[in-house]
Amino acid sequence: MSPYPEGVRQRVEEALAEYFPAVDTYPEILYQSMRYSLFAGGKRFRPVLTVITAAVFGASPETVLPCACAIEYIHTYSLIHDDLPAIDNDDLRRGLPTNHKKFGEDIAIMAGDALFAEAFSLISRLQMASDQRKIVDVIREIAAASGPAGMVGGQVVDMASTGKPISLETLRFIHARKTGRLITAAAWCGAILAGATDDELETVTRYGKHLGLAFQITDDILDETGSVEELGKTPGQDQTLHKATYPALVGLEESKRLACDETTAAIAVANALGESAHALRGLAEFVIERTG
Ligand code: IPE
Ligand code: IPE
Ligand code: MG
Ligand code: MG
Ligand code: MG
Repeated sequence: MSPYPEGVRQRVEEALAEYFPAVDTYPEILYQSMRYSLFAGGKRFRPVLTVITAAVFGASPETVLPCACAIEYIHTYSLIHDDLPAIDNDDLRRGLPTNHKKFGEDIAIMAGDALFAEAFSLISRLQMASDQRKIVDVIREIAAASGPAGMVGGQVVDMASTGKPISLETLRFIHARKTGRLITAAAWCGAILAGATDDELETVTRYGKHLGLAFQITDDILDETGSVEELGKTPGQDQTLHKATYPALVGLEESKRLACDETTAAIAVANALGESAHALRGLAEFVIERTG
């Protein structure tokens, strides 16, 4: 059974396919490489989160799909670059050889760069809003979540911490930035485009932070306990590379407890949004129960 509300995942897949440029667009090798990673599968967790959060505030998927897909572009670019030999040096992603294994490092780097730019192009061309200023808010939020104060900053501290003893506080910072920030933005963008108030946006932000942390702690746990079939990536890489992870720092059991605490906190925050937020509670449960 799908962990997401009925039809949402399908709607996201259709929108991704609809927005992406035709297969024979020149230069073909670049578009093929972008397409390869974007359509290799993946849970579509972030765009689904955008759609679900918009629904909490009464908006249809159509209202937010360009923005939701743009966030999936950025997430996919982050995976392509994360897998590069200079970073995590991974061979398998979404059940397929990593982008650089298939297309070479040069094209993989460019495919990531291109997906990042395309994300903002997609929003500026196709995202509608009741007030145009909301489009600027969304662009600002996604740029902040992706950049030096967000995902890229988190990745750099992750890289700098590899093989070194670090504090739990630093690890929490890494996870909040490299993963939590874009997940929070996915929820926030769904909310603002759906007309959420400032108070509601603040609540959604708190929800996203707990959710994002639970998501990355679980990613660390699954690297130790998951299977290659379910993950679509090679387990055990974090230990091999001496990455800074929750299990490495506090052990598996304590990591599971901390992921559970974050999920419980996310659910408590979602409760403040009332009955309509039941799908956000379901998503928070999925984050720690998932096996892939
Ligand atoms: C993997 O993200 C990288 C992290 C930020 C933890 P996902 O687990 O969402 O990967 P896909 O999109 O399903 O492939
Ligand atoms: C990656 O974290 C976070 C990103 C910003 C891509 P990981 O390095 O743990 O992600 P996986 O395990 O390779 O998917
Ligand atoms: Mg990494
Ligand atoms: Mg990695
Ligand atoms: Mg990982």
